[in-house]
Amino acid sequence: MPFTLKPLPYNPADFQNFVSPETFSFHHGRHLQAYIDAANKLIAGTDYAAKTLEEIMLTSSGPLFNQAAQAWNHDFYFACLTPEEHQAIPAKLKTLIESNFGSVADFTRNYAAAAAGNFGSGWTWLMQTGPNKLKIMSTSNAGNPMVDGFNPLLTVDVWEHAYYLDYQNCRADYIAAFLSHVNWDFAAGRLK
Ligand SMILES: [Fe+2]
Repeated sequence: MPFTLKPLPYNPADFQNFVSPETFSFHHGRHLQAYIDAANKLIAGTDYAAKTLEEIMLTSSGPLFNQAAQAWNHDFYFACLTPEEHQAIPAKLKTLIESNFGSVADFTRNYAAAAAGNFGSGWTWLMQTGPNKLKIMSTSNAGNPMVDGFNPLLTVDVWEHAYYLDYQNCRADYIAAFLSHVNWDFAAGRLK
């Protein structure tokens, strides 16, 4: 079965102080749809057609990796968001953030700086690298920490298409708004 666009897990109109419904519409309905369509085209009639997006991402390279990873990364990014502002971080994840980064405020500062400094197009991740070990990592283009064996908990899309209609060149403002709309229940649910 070819991959299909999953509906967003919320109503974009419910977001205040983040990005506009127009950005969601282009980002989800056009950009993500285009990655899915391109991946479907590349896997048609190949052994990849029987694999999941994650399996394709972990076993492909070149154009197929780019399209499949962008499709996976976008599904993940949209799942990392909630219209709720400043959602409480579940205790287990909060404790891990404090033990790995000093405090939630220190994590927020470091994550925002990494995302702002992620040159060009890419993604900035909070990931789990061991049982009690968290790290921040930036990847370029379609990069994903699972390729290096790490478990992603959270990602922010810093491709310009994610924010340009609303924030133009002010990526830092978009990142700050992103950080106030994180679905921490989703991120905590990813802990292994
Ligand atoms: Fe994107």
